[in-house]
Amino acid sequence: MRTLQEHIRIFDLIAGIYNLFYPLQRIWYRKVLAAGADAVPWEQVHEVLDVGCGTGAFASLWADFGCRVVGADASSKMVHRARRNTRSYASVQFLQANAVTGLPFEDNSFDLAFCSYVAHGLSREHRLQLYREMCRVSRIMIIIHDYSPKRSIMIDAVESLEGGDYFNFIQDVHAEMNRHICSLKVLPVGKRSCWYICSKEGTGEVCRVP
Ligand SMILES: C[S@@+](CC[C@H](N)C(=O)[O-])C[C@H]1O[C@@H](n2cnc3c(N)ncnc32)[C@H](O)[C@@H]1O
Repeated sequence: MRTLQEHIRIFDLIAGIYNLFYPLQRIWYRKVLAAGADAVPWEQVHEVLDVGCGTGAFASLWADFGCRVVGADASSKMVHRARRNTRSYASVQFLQANAVTGLPFEDNSFDLAFCSYVAHGLSREHRLQLYREMCRVSRIMIIIHDYSPKRSIMIDAVESLEGGDYFNFIQDVHAEMNRHICSLKVLPVGKRSCWYICSKEGTGEVCRVP
Protein backbone atom coordinates (compact mmCIF):
# COMPACT_ATOMS: atom_id res chain seq x y z
CA MET A 1 0.00 0.00 0.00
CA ARG A 2 1.11 3.53 -0.73
CA THR A 3 2.00 5.90 2.12
CA LEU A 4 -0.48 8.67 2.92
CA GLN A 5 1.76 11.25 1.23
CA GLU A 6 2.05 9.12 -1.93
CA HIS A 7 -1.72 8.61 -1.89
CA ILE A 8 -2.37 12.36 -1.81
CA ARG A 9 0.31 12.96 -4.44
CA ILE A 10 -1.57 10.64 -6.83
CA PHE A 11 -4.65 12.85 -6.45
CA ASP A 12 -2.55 15.96 -7.10
CA LEU A 13 -1.31 14.28 -10.27
CA ILE A 14 -4.70 13.15 -11.56
CA ALA A 15 -6.76 16.19 -10.51
CA GLY A 16 -6.90 17.51 -14.09
CA ILE A 17 -8.12 14.19 -15.51
CA TYR A 18 -10.50 13.60 -12.60
CA ASN A 19 -11.94 17.04 -13.25
CA LEU A 20 -13.07 16.03 -16.75
CA PHE A 21 -15.70 13.89 -15.01
CA TYR A 22 -17.09 16.78 -12.95
CA PRO A 23 -20.25 17.29 -15.08
CA LEU A 24 -20.91 13.52 -15.15
CA GLN A 25 -20.27 13.22 -11.43
CA ARG A 26 -22.89 15.86 -10.78
CA ILE A 27 -25.39 13.74 -12.72
CA TRP A 28 -24.41 10.46 -10.95
CA TYR A 29 -24.21 12.02 -7.52
CA ARG A 30 -27.54 13.79 -7.89
CA LYS A 31 -29.06 10.32 -8.24
CA VAL A 32 -27.15 9.15 -5.15
CA LEU A 33 -28.45 12.10 -3.14
CA ALA A 34 -31.97 11.37 -4.33
CA ALA A 35 -31.58 7.71 -3.25
CA GLY A 36 -30.31 8.72 0.19
CA ALA A 37 -32.42 11.84 0.74
CA ASP A 38 -34.93 10.21 3.09
CA ALA A 39 -32.14 9.32 5.51
CA VAL A 40 -31.17 12.96 5.99
CA PRO A 41 -33.07 15.02 8.59
CA TRP A 42 -33.11 18.09 6.34
CA GLU A 43 -34.76 20.35 8.91
CA GLN A 44 -31.67 19.89 11.13
CA VAL A 45 -28.96 19.76 8.49
CA HIS A 46 -27.74 23.21 7.43
CA GLU A 47 -23.94 23.01 7.69
CA VAL A 48 -22.23 20.17 5.82
CA LEU A 49 -18.58 19.18 5.79
CA ASP A 50 -17.53 17.21 2.69
CA VAL A 51 -14.28 15.44 3.58
CA GLY A 52 -12.10 14.51 0.59
CA CYS A 53 -14.34 16.65 -1.58
CA GLY A 54 -12.30 16.13 -4.76
CA THR A 55 -13.43 18.48 -7.53
CA GLY A 56 -16.46 19.67 -5.56
CA ALA A 57 -19.28 17.74 -7.28
CA PHE A 58 -20.99 16.58 -4.08
CA ALA A 59 -20.30 19.89 -2.31
CA SER A 60 -22.16 21.74 -5.06
CA LEU A 61 -25.10 19.32 -4.79
CA TRP A 62 -25.40 19.68 -1.01
CA ALA A 63 -25.51 23.42 -1.71
CA ASP A 64 -28.26 22.86 -4.28
CA PHE A 65 -30.21 21.25 -1.43
CA GLY A 66 -29.87 24.52 0.50
CA CYS A 67 -26.93 23.63 2.77
CA ARG A 68 -23.86 25.72 3.54
CA VAL A 69 -20.92 23.51 2.66
CA VAL A 70 -17.24 23.34 3.52
CA GLY A 71 -15.22 21.02 1.30
CA ALA A 72 -11.90 19.79 2.68
CA ASP A 73 -9.34 17.87 0.67
CA ALA A 74 -5.72 16.95 1.32
CA SER A 75 -4.82 17.53 -2.34
CA SER A 76 -4.18 21.20 -3.12
CA LYS A 77 -4.82 20.54 -6.81
CA MET A 78 -8.25 19.07 -6.07
CA VAL A 79 -9.09 22.08 -3.88
CA HIS A 80 -8.06 24.38 -6.74
CA ARG A 81 -10.36 22.53 -9.16
CA ALA A 82 -13.23 22.49 -6.68
CA ARG A 83 -12.99 26.28 -6.18
CA ARG A 84 -13.05 26.87 -9.91
CA ASN A 85 -15.94 24.49 -10.51
CA THR A 86 -18.14 26.11 -7.86
CA ARG A 87 -17.32 29.78 -8.51
CA SER A 88 -21.01 30.61 -8.82
CA TYR A 89 -21.87 29.12 -5.39
CA ALA A 90 -21.83 31.63 -2.53
CA SER A 91 -22.54 28.98 0.10
CA VAL A 92 -19.61 26.68 -0.64
CA GLN A 93 -16.01 27.08 0.43
CA PHE A 94 -12.97 24.84 0.29
CA LEU A 95 -9.77 24.34 2.15
CA GLN A 96 -6.82 22.00 2.07
CA ALA A 97 -6.89 19.69 5.10
CA ASN A 98 -5.95 16.11 5.87
CA ALA A 99 -8.60 14.13 7.74
CA VAL A 100 -6.09 11.52 8.87
CA THR A 101 -3.71 13.92 10.58
CA GLY A 102 -6.59 16.07 11.89
CA LEU A 103 -9.24 18.45 10.58
CA PRO A 104 -8.91 22.11 11.57
CA PHE A 105 -12.38 22.39 13.11
CA GLU A 106 -13.76 22.46 16.65
CA ASP A 107 -15.82 19.51 17.93
CA ASN A 108 -19.45 19.54 16.65
CA SER A 109 -18.78 22.30 14.09
CA PHE A 110 -21.06 20.80 11.42
CA ASP A 111 -24.50 19.24 11.38
CA LEU A 112 -23.34 16.54 8.99
CA ALA A 113 -19.91 15.22 8.08
CA PHE A 114 -19.93 13.45 4.74
CA CYS A 115 -17.27 11.72 2.67
CA SER A 116 -17.50 10.06 -0.71
CA TYR A 117 -15.10 7.41 -2.01
CA VAL A 118 -12.36 8.40 0.42
CA ALA A 119 -12.45 5.55 2.97
CA HIS A 120 -11.61 2.63 0.64
CA GLY A 121 -8.44 4.36 -0.56
CA LEU A 122 -6.95 4.63 2.94
CA SER A 123 -5.25 1.97 5.03
CA ARG A 124 -7.38 0.51 7.81
CA GLU A 125 -5.58 2.53 10.44
CA HIS A 126 -6.10 5.75 8.48
CA ARG A 127 -9.75 4.93 7.80
CA LEU A 128 -10.35 4.72 11.52
CA GLN A 129 -8.73 8.14 11.95
CA LEU A 130 -11.04 9.45 9.21
CA TYR A 131 -14.15 8.05 10.96
CA ARG A 132 -12.99 9.47 14.28
CA GLU A 133 -12.40 12.95 12.86
CA MET A 134 -15.77 12.92 11.09
CA CYS A 135 -17.51 11.86 14.31
CA ARG A 136 -15.69 14.54 16.28
CA VAL A 137 -16.63 17.48 14.05
CA SER A 138 -20.23 16.42 13.41
CA ARG A 139 -23.18 17.37 15.61
CA ILE A 140 -25.92 15.19 14.14
CA MET A 141 -24.72 12.51 11.79
CA ILE A 142 -22.01 11.18 9.57
CA ILE A 143 -22.46 9.60 6.15
CA ILE A 144 -19.75 7.58 4.46
CA HIS A 145 -20.52 7.06 0.78
CA ASP A 146 -18.41 4.22 -0.56
CA TYR A 147 -18.35 0.87 -2.29
CA SER A 148 -20.56 -2.02 -1.29
CA PRO A 149 -19.00 -5.52 -1.37
CA LYS A 150 -20.44 -6.05 -4.92
CA ARG A 151 -17.49 -6.07 -7.31
CA SER A 152 -17.12 -5.35 -11.02
CA ILE A 153 -14.16 -5.91 -13.34
CA MET A 154 -14.05 -2.21 -14.18
CA ILE A 155 -13.89 -1.09 -10.53
CA ASP A 156 -11.33 -3.81 -9.71
CA ALA A 157 -9.11 -2.47 -12.50
CA VAL A 158 -9.43 1.20 -11.53
CA GLU A 159 -8.84 0.47 -7.86
CA SER A 160 -5.81 -1.73 -8.62
CA LEU A 161 -4.31 1.28 -10.40
CA GLU A 162 -5.14 3.62 -7.51
CA GLY A 163 -3.24 1.27 -5.19
CA GLY A 164 -5.45 1.92 -2.14
CA ASP A 165 -6.99 -0.60 0.26
CA TYR A 166 -10.13 -1.27 -1.82
CA PHE A 167 -9.89 -5.08 -1.82
CA ASN A 168 -9.51 -5.33 1.97
CA PHE A 169 -12.11 -2.62 2.46
CA ILE A 170 -14.93 -4.35 0.56
CA GLN A 171 -14.15 -7.72 2.10
CA ASP A 172 -14.81 -6.49 5.62
CA VAL A 173 -16.70 -3.22 5.20
CA HIS A 174 -19.89 -4.07 7.12
CA ALA A 175 -18.06 -5.73 10.01
CA GLU A 176 -15.51 -2.93 10.21
CA MET A 177 -18.14 -0.19 10.22
CA ASN A 178 -20.21 -2.09 12.79
CA ARG A 179 -17.18 -2.47 15.03
CA HIS A 180 -16.37 1.22 15.00
CA ILE A 181 -19.53 3.14 14.26
CA CYS A 182 -22.48 3.10 16.65
CA SER A 183 -26.02 2.32 15.46
CA LEU A 184 -24.84 1.91 11.89
CA LYS A 185 -27.40 1.97 9.07
CA VAL A 186 -26.41 0.74 5.62
CA LEU A 187 -28.37 2.18 2.72
CA PRO A 188 -27.69 1.05 -0.86
CA VAL A 189 -27.60 4.19 -3.04
CA GLY A 190 -26.31 2.72 -6.28
CA LYS A 191 -25.52 -0.59 -7.97
CA ARG A 192 -22.26 -0.95 -6.09
CA SER A 193 -22.34 1.80 -3.50
CA CYS A 194 -23.85 2.38 -0.10
CA TRP A 195 -24.27 5.10 2.45
CA TYR A 196 -22.88 3.96 5.79
CA ILE A 197 -24.86 6.19 8.13
CA CYS A 198 -24.44 6.94 11.75
CA SER A 199 -26.67 9.26 13.71
CA LYS A 200 -25.87 10.83 17.09
CA GLU A 201 -29.52 10.56 18.08
CA GLY A 202 -30.16 8.21 20.98
CA THR A 203 -26.85 7.44 22.64
CA GLY A 204 -25.13 10.60 21.41
CA GLU A 205 -22.22 8.30 20.70
CA VAL A 206 -21.09 7.74 17.16
CA CYS A 207 -17.65 6.31 17.02
CA ARG A 208 -15.90 3.55 18.90
CA VAL A 209 -12.45 4.36 17.55
CA PRO A 210 -10.26 4.93 20.63
C1 LIG B 1 -11.62 9.09 -5.10
S1 LIG B 1 -11.53 10.78 -4.71
C2 LIG B 1 -13.23 11.18 -4.33
C3 LIG B 1 -13.53 12.64 -4.51
C4 LIG B 1 -14.97 13.04 -4.23
N1 LIG B 1 -15.31 12.89 -2.86
C5 LIG B 1 -15.91 12.25 -5.10
O1 LIG B 1 -16.70 11.44 -4.59
O2 LIG B 1 -15.86 12.45 -6.32
C6 LIG B 1 -10.81 10.80 -3.09
C7 LIG B 1 -10.50 12.20 -2.61
O3 LIG B 1 -10.13 12.13 -1.25
C8 LIG B 1 -9.02 12.96 -1.04
N2 LIG B 1 -8.31 12.45 0.14
C9 LIG B 1 -7.64 11.27 0.23
N3 LIG B 1 -7.13 11.12 1.47
C10 LIG B 1 -7.51 12.22 2.16
C11 LIG B 1 -7.30 12.65 3.49
N4 LIG B 1 -6.57 11.92 4.34
N5 LIG B 1 -7.82 13.82 3.90
C12 LIG B 1 -8.56 14.57 3.02
N6 LIG B 1 -8.76 14.24 1.75
C13 LIG B 1 -8.26 13.07 1.33
C14 LIG B 1 -8.22 12.88 -2.32
O4 LIG B 1 -7.33 13.95 -2.48
C15 LIG B 1 -9.33 12.86 -3.34
O5 LIG B 1 -9.70 14.15 -3.74
